[in-house]
Amino acid sequence: MKDAVTLIEVAPRDGFQSVVPFIATADKLALIKALAETGLAHIEVGSFVSPKAIAQMADIVPILQQLDAYDCFEKIVLVPNRRGAQMAAEHNCQRLNFVFSASETHNLNNVNKTIEQSLAELKAVQQVIEDNSQLTLRVSLATTFDCPFKGTVDPEHSMDLVKKIRDISPSAQLALCDTTGRAHPFAVRKLFDTALTEIAVDSLIFHCHDTYGLAIANVAGAYQAGVRIFDSAVAGFGGCPFAPGASGNVATEDVLYFFASAGIETNIDSAKLKQAIALAERINGAQLGGSIRHINSL
Ligand code: COA
Ligand code: ZN
Repeated sequence: MKDAVTLIEVAPRDGFQSVVPFIATADKLALIKALAETGLAHIEVGSFVSPKAIAQMADIVPILQQLDAYDCFEKIVLVPNRRGAQMAAEHNCQRLNFVFSASETHNLNNVNKTIEQSLAELKAVQQVIEDNSQLTLRVSLATTFDCPFKGTVDPEHSMDLVKKIRDISPSAQLALCDTTGRAHPFAVRKLFDTALTEIAVDSLIFHCHDTYGLAIANVAGAYQAGVRIFDSAVAGFGGCPFAPGASGNVATEDVLYFFASAGIETNIDSAKLKQAIALAERINGAQLGGSIRHINSL
């Protein structure tokens, strides 16, 4: 029996955040609940960010309130600073996803901070975690491989940041993110080979976008390096408002098909996933991707 993999569904955050117009809260909740029905045990349901930066995430509080009774999946919320962590701690969620970028330029564009300032925020967020026993932490290193403004990121620089993150938050999960979709599978495999010498396999996540059609090849590269946890978005929903040109996340159904074809368990019900895809396709303004959602035999 091959190792099972764990998928973290990110459409309700990474997918929704670039959609204009505002998606009705009820429609967001309907998709989140449909995703939970598929067996996905970890869902990023939104962000505590400035509504001036990302207006689409302004209803995170009612979303968490209305998911209060749903304890069948881990509710993850993205936070860019200590303020977001403090706000999240007052609501029913289980994991904070603190994000900053390996690229200084992207970090300034995305969260208006230098990398040093974001590392100081991480220390403060770690303190919020220690003060709130119901919360756990994940750190997402955006632009680990490539920056939309400056191109290839030096892998040694990214690994330096991996070590700094681990020193501040030793028990946090860590996601290495191909924000632009320009990472190459060979580079992905190589960096994860190195990262797995520093971070335990049950804490390391790969997050990728399918801008150049390489997302599944990149998932394969990360898997072959030993990674067993992957972010994905139903129907390839996504994009990043601060990464010009980046398209959606790798599609959940493509990842499911890829692993299932190799006999690797994902614990996701594909019939239920088709129902979630149908809901995603009805969202006004959705930017969808993925390769296989139109194939009936999914
Ligand atoms: N949640 C909600 N509001 C927040 C907030 C948070 N986590 N952090 C700050 N704010 C509010 C402040 O209260 C302030 O509001 P006001 O103008 O009404 O007084 C305003 O945002 C600006 O606060 P400031 O601390 O000066 O932040 P900033 O202008 O330097 O912006 C961020 C920094 C991080 C808040 C902003 O860039 C952001 O939210 N970025 C999110 C980016 C993102 O989600 N990208 C996609 C995911 S990778
Ligand atoms: Zn992303």
